[in-house]
Amino acid sequence: MIIAVDGPAAAGKGTIARALARHYGYHFLDTGSLYRMVGLAALKAGGEPISPETAIAAARSLDPTSFTDAELRSETVGAAASIVAVIPEVRAALLDVQRSFARREPGAVLDGRDIGTVVCPDAEAKLFITASPEVRARRRQIELGSADYTAVLAEIRARDARDSQRATSPLVAAKDAVTLDTSEMDITAAVQAAIDAVDAKRVYATPYPSPPQGERAG
Ligand code: CDP
Repeated sequence: MIIAVDGPAAAGKGTIARALARHYGYHFLDTGSLYRMVGLAALKAGGEPISPETAIAAARSLDPTSFTDAELRSETVGAAASIVAVIPEVRAALLDVQRSFARREPGAVLDGRDIGTVVCPDAEAKLFITASPEVRARRRQIELGSADYTAVLAEIRARDARDSQRATSPLVAAKDAVTLDTSEMDITAAVQAAIDAVDAKRVYATPYPSPPQGERAG
């Protein structure tokens, strides 16, 4: 089974997607980290502004072992990720690795921006996790240990605009996604709401054997 978890920056999708993977015993892929790696590799190779040629070359020769989590999580690298993510050749270079991960047994949870729409349009369960920009900025401020709420909010808004308005794979909820607005939820409530939404889909995704003849009720 494939569970697609999409949504804007700092909506809680990473935490929810990890919790779903743990709950069901599935594999987990944070696809944003792939774009962050490309963004960081492009910054290291060519500096700013990032040229499309440098970003495409970085995406085609990506070595996931050459980055630390700490450097990938900075907001500078988040912004660089959303700049390289606009380039169709970068997206194409990352597609195969995401699709083969999604096929891993017994199931996989992928979080990103276009999992339910482009990477895995056939995913059995699709969630779109969102929250107001102000709530997301507050969460990201705490996560980054940043003092400047106004700057974090501005960066979140800039990233939302870039992710939603790009021509290739824009951030949009799949038609068959369940939308969860986590603005007023704590993490326990948000995870439970996500599990409930996935369980509702699993009833149809998991075929049950028919009862033996003669034992049918009625
Ligand atoms: O953690 P956060 O939500 O801030 O961002 P992320 O998931 O690490 O993604 C960083 C950037 O990569 C996003 O702003 C998107 O521009 C891009 N991205 C994408 O285009 N498609 C994906 N499937 C995942 C991330």
